[in-house]
Amino acid sequence: MGDCLRIEGGRRLSGVVAVEGAKNAALPACVAALLTDEPLSLHRVPQLRDVSTILFTLSDLGKRVVRHGASVVLSSDRPLAAEANAYSVRQMRASFLVLGPLVARLGRAAVPLPGGCAIGERSVGLHLDGLRALGGRVSERGNVVFVEADRLRGASIELPFPSVGATEQILMTAALAAGDTELRNGAIEPEVLDLVGLLEAMGATIEREDRTYRIAGRTELHGADYAVIPDRMEAGTYLLAGAITGGDVTVAGIDAEALRPALDALEALGVSIRSEEDRIAASGKGNRPIRVETAPHPGFPTDLHPPLAALLAVVPGTSVISETVFEHRHTYVDGLRRMGAGIAVDGPRVVITGVERLSGAAVVAPDIRAGAALVLAGLAARGETQVSGLETIDRGYAGLEAKLARLGAAIERREG
Ligand code: UD1
Repeated sequence: MGDCLRIEGGRRLSGVVAVEGAKNAALPACVAALLTDEPLSLHRVPQLRDVSTILFTLSDLGKRVVRHGASVVLSSDRPLAAEANAYSVRQMRASFLVLGPLVARLGRAAVPLPGGCAIGERSVGLHLDGLRALGGRVSERGNVVFVEADRLRGASIELPFPSVGATEQILMTAALAAGDTELRNGAIEPEVLDLVGLLEAMGATIEREDRTYRIAGRTELHGADYAVIPDRMEAGTYLLAGAITGGDVTVAGIDAEALRPALDALEALGVSIRSEEDRIAASGKGNRPIRVETAPHPGFPTDLHPPLAALLAVVPGTSVISETVFEHRHTYVDGLRRMGAGIAVDGPRVVITGVERLSGAAVVAPDIRAGAALVLAGLAARGETQVSGLETIDRGYAGLEAKLARLGAAIERREG
């Protein structure tokens, strides 16, 4: 049945919690190791299941992986393979990013269609269109995508939607194509810009103006030593965890800029935010409803939609979250309802009417962020909450229960 978290709700959280490196920056950074045979040293890599999954995929493709705590060195002692391991790619959508780099290095690659969180259609059409534009011949047989190209060529590409993954796929691939690429309407999430920083450290030339990237293709890239940015989703989750208990939590190791859209929403509902250089503190629970729309950066991040919904479930009045990024982000709704939340789903909109108090229940974590939302609800609920399906939460949060316990939560992991 797997591990479960038991939470006795009602404790006010306070204290300081250190933020790990960003999962969503670390995953593409590891994949970038495919672009060179020289060693790539990455630091502040979070110790998460998703990171282990990508490292397994890369070692299976021929990279030598040495991991020491939060540092990882990826080097080469044998030729790369062109076929990605089906099991690990189906575990996690980010593994699909290996496709373009493999084609750029080997002239061909075969990668299974990805799995990952059960949220939305999450097709990879934009990734494949991008690789086609760069000269890849794409075919699909039995759920495996094959791409071939004698030499990829720079191209002019416009994304219909600023997909994070497609932008990263195109940036990495174009960095090794012949000639220049212009990518318009690309994603500009901090994690994407972090990948750009890494590619530049590896010798790529990339210019950006708003959502337009210009990439000068190179015949080869070199190794680098690079620290990934702090995790704004983790930081936001702990600030929301503090808020839902009416507490006072400080996240350390991240500056407020990356979290601005989320902090604005918290302030709008009455949570008091203080930030200095590399710390952000949130105190109080908030006392008025808000309307929030998720959107590509610099909009409100979709990954913080579920934990924000947990907080809104105990804020007086009727709040609305409109989801514009993932059509099935609402996997947390049933769990919160079981805990007594007043939530109605109206197409992409979730309408939340705050209640005085949630009550503990046995719930299952459906995906990473929905799981976090249920844990937060448990922290605020009357009585005991059991959240099972912890393997899902472990994909995205390192040491969740230890960090929450240090802030004063009554929480323990039961191994199942
Ligand atoms: C990344 C993040 C994820 C975050 C998301 C949006 C990682 C590892 N994951 O996911 O946590 O929630 O950005 O900020 O960085 N789409 C298509 N076709 C495509 C690509 C995307 O239709 O080829 C759609 C998806 O179905 C989804 C939307 O675009 O509805 C957003 O996807 P995208 O921005 O690509 O997110 P990911 O890179 O998968």
